[in-house]
Amino acid sequence: MIVETLKWIGGIDGYLELTDQRQLPGKYVKLECRDIGGVYDAIKTLAVRGAPAIGVAGAYGVIIGMQKLAPESATEQGVKVLIESCEYLNSSRPTAVNLSWALNRLREEGEKIADQKVSLKVLMSGLLSEADAIYNEDIEMCRKMGENGEKFIKDGAGILTHCNAGALATAGQGTALSLMFEAHKKGKKFKVYADETRPLLQGARLTCWELQQAGIDVTVISDNMAGWLMKQGKIDAVITGADRIAANGDAANKIGTYSLSILAAENRIPFYIVAPSSTFDLSIKSGEQIPIEERSPDEVTQFGGIQVAPDGIKVYNPAFDVTSASNITAIITEAGVIEKPNTENIAKCLGK
Ligand code: MRU
Repeated sequence: MIVETLKWIGGIDGYLELTDQRQLPGKYVKLECRDIGGVYDAIKTLAVRGAPAIGVAGAYGVIIGMQKLAPESATEQGVKVLIESCEYLNSSRPTAVNLSWALNRLREEGEKIADQKVSLKVLMSGLLSEADAIYNEDIEMCRKMGENGEKFIKDGAGILTHCNAGALATAGQGTALSLMFEAHKKGKKFKVYADETRPLLQGARLTCWELQQAGIDVTVISDNMAGWLMKQGKIDAVITGADRIAANGDAANKIGTYSLSILAAENRIPFYIVAPSSTFDLSIKSGEQIPIEERSPDEVTQFGGIQVAPDGIKVYNPAFDVTSASNITAIITEAGVIEKPNTENIAKCLGK
């Protein structure tokens, strides 16, 4: 089963239904977001997470933000609330560019529609269509990335992945995991090692759950075991997603990905990033300009809600790190595979 990560229910007065990822794998619970604060909190607290999924959630969140307007309000007022909603939702998480990418699309589309002097209802219907388009395009991009990249999973291979870049991170069948789903469909036999992904355990809780349900051979390891598995020859490829890729190919992903890229280079193992074009930020030259989210100290000092570090300890909790393009064998996108990524071949592949 490919899980339904998020779905819009109804028309312009509808709501956003999410699979609450904070409760997986213990409980499969749906969360209804009916006000913009609920969408913001769902993104911030990782009820919905993963770069493409938060982009889609943000887009629908804008419609929810505009529902506070009286139906007879002026369209200019609608545009004002549209812009406020985009700014508010964009402040929920800074690293994944898919969020601002989707919000900018809604804002630009809204301003274009409003120029035609239409009613608020027409403006909101147009924005809902744009959010639906973002949702549907994401499903399609996931499928294409899987098809473009499954060749990198050889029969009998051992694959290492980090965090969760599966269906739960997108509207479709995932990015990195999409390759695995496609390879599995083709009857290839391979073994996946999933880093548990401290501190929030997206690997142990989400990736293992998704792959196990799909009938793919998956083994969880703690993050610090990855290098030793590589040294033992158990890993033939590392495959992860990304949250923001700079013009030169430097790629931000879940904290720990950078270390994996160094370990992979040391052990001469190919390192693949799988990401749709919506994850590229061609406005920044290199990974140095990627904003890195820092999260609550409690995520590090506690384990399963139990405090494990001393009271008053200092904590540093960056949620992402940046892997240099030079350590990435290829970036797999819906538009094609970018071998040895650099500014030139990225721009060429993405048609920019
Ligand atoms: O903090 P998260 O769980 O949102 O981090 C997610 C990741 O780092 C994923 O690897 C990334 O978004 C790619 S998902 C297709």
